[in-house]
Amino acid sequence: MSEERLRIAIQKSGRLSEGSFDLLKSCGLKVSRGKDKLYGRVRELPIDVLLLRDDDIPSFVADNACDIGIVGQNVFEEERLAGEHDAPAVEVMPLGFARCKLMLAAPKEWSFDGADMLEGRRVATSYPELTRAWLAREGVNARAVMMKGSVEVAPRLKIADAVCDIVSTGATLDANGLKPVAEVFDSQALLIRNAADFTPGKQAVFDALMKRINGVLTSRDAKYVMMNAPRDAVAAITEYLPGADAPTVLELAGSSDKVAIHAVCRESVFWDTLEDLKKLGASAILVLPIEKMMA
Ligand code: PRP
Ligand code: ZN
Repeated sequence: MSEERLRIAIQKSGRLSEGSFDLLKSCGLKVSRGKDKLYGRVRELPIDVLLLRDDDIPSFVADNACDIGIVGQNVFEEERLAGEHDAPAVEVMPLGFARCKLMLAAPKEWSFDGADMLEGRRVATSYPELTRAWLAREGVNARAVMMKGSVEVAPRLKIADAVCDIVSTGATLDANGLKPVAEVFDSQALLIRNAADFTPGKQAVFDALMKRINGVLTSRDAKYVMMNAPRDAVAAITEYLPGADAPTVLELAGSSDKVAIHAVCRESVFWDTLEDLKKLGASAILVLPIEKMMA
């Protein structure tokens, strides 16, 4: 039987690439990059990795040059609104990394008090569709001016009055005398796939990969929590633990009134959580990371 390989597109370098490589690695897939650096191969599962510019990923997946891809929701949504494909790529699930926001930003000296201020003005952006959709929602008549890069210099060059650009740390805006004034779109990494059915061979590889990705995502925030507690505090502690299944309660050697509680918490465990547990009577609290988990 000839082996069918699933082709996955990820960003070559930029906001999404590290998280994408990390995710594949956490799934037990080591990507060996080819000499031309466009292709990477995976040994552990029949998967080929294509390294692309993020903006090209939705089209490559829609056009079936790749089966699946990891791309920012911002880029995916912009492409979807542009509507250049009869059968656009479809969303599989958000992946929880590369979070950023598409923000409207204005010169620092503006005292911005609402979208009305943009009436009749020009907004420079690499995301004209998302920007226009937002302007329309706000009921403002302004022009979105398409710029492929260096959007943040547009106001200084008098090409535009404001910008609509991706912000993660905010350093780029700050360095260019701009401040974020309104949120246009909230984004994170997204897994997408070609709209057509996969062949049975590819579907099997896809299913295997999905099982691993789901395992990684559920164990990412999950922690194994251990503590000692008075026997009569077990019910209150169990109730309190964030996103925990029924915990394991164990006898403690040489103690009849205290027990050990072990639980898997699927939600983040913060310092506050530990302090609250102490108040409920817990002591010797340990929080351990979970490397892998499969239901
Ligand atoms: C965005 C944006 C800024 C930078 C902002 O570019 O255009 O240049 O990120 O990040 P900061 O708030 O942390 O300073 P992006 O990485 O999306 O590049 P691309 O458009 O080339 O994909
Ligand atoms: Zn890009």
